[in-house]
Amino acid sequence: MRHEYECVIVGSGGAGLYSALETSAGAKTAVLSKLYPVRSHTGAAQGGISAALGNREEDKPEWHAFDTVKGGDYLVDQQAAMILARDAVQAVYDLENRGLPFSRTKDGRIDQRRFGGHTKEFGKGPVRRACYAADRTGHMILQTLYQQCIKNKVAFFDEFQVIDVILDGKTCKGVIAIELATGTLHTFAAKAVLFATGGFGRIFKITSNAFANTGDGPAVLARKGIPLQDMEFFQFHPTGIKGLGILITEAVRGEGGILRNSAGERFMEQYAPTLLDLAPRDMVSRAIMTEIAAGRGMRGDKKIDDYVDLNATHLDKGVLEAKLPDITDFCKTYLGVDPNHTPIPVLPTAHYAMGGIPTDLDGRVVVDEKGGIIHGLYAAGECACVSVHGANRLGTNSLLDLVVFGRRAGIHIEEYVKNIDFPAIPSDAAAEAEAQKWIDRLTDGKKGPHGGHITEEMQT
Ligand code: FUM
Repeated sequence: MRHEYECVIVGSGGAGLYSALETSAGAKTAVLSKLYPVRSHTGAAQGGISAALGNREEDKPEWHAFDTVKGGDYLVDQQAAMILARDAVQAVYDLENRGLPFSRTKDGRIDQRRFGGHTKEFGKGPVRRACYAADRTGHMILQTLYQQCIKNKVAFFDEFQVIDVILDGKTCKGVIAIELATGTLHTFAAKAVLFATGGFGRIFKITSNAFANTGDGPAVLARKGIPLQDMEFFQFHPTGIKGLGILITEAVRGEGGILRNSAGERFMEQYAPTLLDLAPRDMVSRAIMTEIAAGRGMRGDKKIDDYVDLNATHLDKGVLEAKLPDITDFCKTYLGVDPNHTPIPVLPTAHYAMGGIPTDLDGRVVVDEKGGIIHGLYAAGECACVSVHGANRLGTNSLLDLVVFGRRAGIHIEEYVKNIDFPAIPSDAAAEAEAQKWIDRLTDGKKGPHGGHITEEMQT
C-alpha cells in the first residue's frame, strides 16, 4: 500500500512530535509510531527539563553550556552545547505557552530544582535549573506536543513499525513500515524522513527503558551501511529500583535525598565533596559500585547486585506528595515501601545512549568523516548523536535535547521540502518485496539459534 507525504517522521516521542509541529506548519506531515504516540518513552522522563531561567536564583546559559561540556567529559561538541543552553530558555517558555502545566513558585513563575552536575559560576555549587511538572515532566511534554500536532492536522499512523528506509544513492525517498495489527507492508514515499525512534536501553537486562526501546531506527540505518557514532557511551543512572531498574528520579536527590551505605555513611562526601549526591551520573554510579565492591553495600557481600539506600525519610512529607508523587507510588507498588518512612534500595540502571545516528546541528544525518549527508535524511532525539552529551549526559538535558534539536530539524525540513519535487521511487511492490524477504528470513524458524536466547544472553 502506498502513501505520499512531504515529510515522514518515524517516532512520536518529544523529538518526533516537536519536529512534526514545525514541519506541519508548511508541509504535509505523517508521524509513524510502533506505539500509541503518547506511550512513547519520553513519557517516562520524570525529573525535569533544564533551562537557565534564573527563577529561583541567578543562572546563565553560559554556566549551563559549561556544565554540559564538563559533564560530558569534554567530548561534547561545544557549538551544540551553546545552542542547547541558549535555546533552552525560549524552548521552555514555548512549551509553557503551548499549555504545559509546569510546577510553580509561590509567585506563579515556573519552579526550578537542583539536578546532578548543574552548577552556578562554572562549578562553584549546585544551581536550581530543572523546570518540572511534579515528577511527570516527560509525560506532560508528550501530552502537550501531541495535542498541538493534532491541532496542526499531522497524520498519525499508530502501531506502524518502520523496518526499512528507501535510499537512492545520496537521496532518501521514504520508508517501508509494517502495520502491526495486520502484518501489511506500507510504502511511505517522502521528500524527507526524520528518525526519532528513541533509545536502546533494552540491550541491557536491567534498564530504566521501556520494552519498546530496542533501537529500531539506528538498526534500520546501520543495515543500509550508515555508520553509528559513540556507541560505546552508554549512561547508567545511579538510582534504579534494585533488581528492576525502574527509574527513581534524580529529583529525589535534587530535593534533598541522600545516598547512604551499610554503615549509614553519606559516601558521596568521599567522591564529590562539592556536589555530593548531585555530582554527574557517571560519578555517582561508579561511587555506588565502588562502595558495593568494597563490601559497604547494604548486604555487604560485594556482589554486583547488592545495593545502597536512597534516603528521603527526612524530607517534609509535603515534598514527596507534591513534587514526587509518581516515585512515591512506584516504591509502594513495586517494593511495598513508603519512601516517607523507609529508604529506597537502589542500584545503577542502564538509562541513556549518548551515541546513535550521527547528525549535524540541523539534524541532517552525517555519513562520513567529511560531513557528507544523504539528502532528505534526518535524525533527532536519543536515537541521534549530535554529540551534545559527549560521553555522559547531564540529567534533564535529554528532554531539552528533544525539544531544541527536534525543533531545529523540523525547521530545516520544512524549508528543504519546499524546494524539491517528490522523488521518483521504485515501485511499491519492489521495495516491499525486499522488506518481506528480510521478514521471512527472521521468521522462517528453521535454522540457527532462537532469537530470544540470543537476546537474553546479550542482555545479561
Ligand atoms: O532522574 C531523572 O529524572 C531522569 C532525568 C533524565 O534522564 O534526564
